[in-house]
Amino acid sequence: EALIITIDGPSGSGKGTISQRVAQKLGLQLLDSGALYRLVALCSIRQAVDPDDVVKLAELARTLPVSFKLGSEGVAAFLNGEDVSQAIRLEEVGLVASKVAALPEVRAALLERQRDFAAPPGLVADGRDMGTVVFPNATIKIFLTASAEERANRRFNQLKARGESVSLARLLEDIQERDSRDMNRQVSPLKPAEDAVIIDSSQMGIDDVQDAILAIVDN
Ligand code: CDP
Repeated sequence: EALIITIDGPSGSGKGTISQRVAQKLGLQLLDSGALYRLVALCSIRQAVDPDDVVKLAELARTLPVSFKLGSEGVAAFLNGEDVSQAIRLEEVGLVASKVAALPEVRAALLERQRDFAAPPGLVADGRDMGTVVFPNATIKIFLTASAEERANRRFNQLKARGESVSLARLLEDIQERDSRDMNRQVSPLKPAEDAVIIDSSQMGIDDVQDAILAIVDN
């Protein structure tokens, strides 16, 4: 049986960085499920798919020609062989991703594709419903969160470092909008699995979070 560690939580909680670090440290595969929703979003924008055309969006999700490669900069995402790692990180794509992620048909289309990532020696799965829906029998379930203000701050610093100028107030609004869409949707709403360990990282550095998770794995 493969070791499966799920790390779920809201936008900007640091799941991405932490999941990458834990996977690398333990020599496990990594599933960035958010990237899958972002890839569907990017593809739908490029093909100018009507956001209400659920059938078309589900079809996109089912047939999306994606692949991931681990590089020095983390995991790179490819669409039809094209490196779209930067394109899928745009705020606009994230917003569309959170909309397509609310569609049950799109989630269903991605379910098996996500489970296919689980292979020996194991997997770190990063997302919103990894522990609740996609891998309900996971070995270890983490729910990583932080206050909305702290998450907006972190994203602000991240974007600033990349030379993108955005307002902090606007980012906070975006995060709150995404939180409420993620938590209130009908299918797979964002919530901790019953057997998840909840880590609030508002007052923790990234190393502290990594240590906390590795200590749970070691136990
Ligand atoms: O961290 P951030 O919200 O910016 O993005 P992400 O983790 O890359 O996920 C993009 C969007 O996909 C999120 O806004 C979620 O609504 C959605 N998502 C989801 O519904 N289920 C997942 N397992 C992962 C992401």
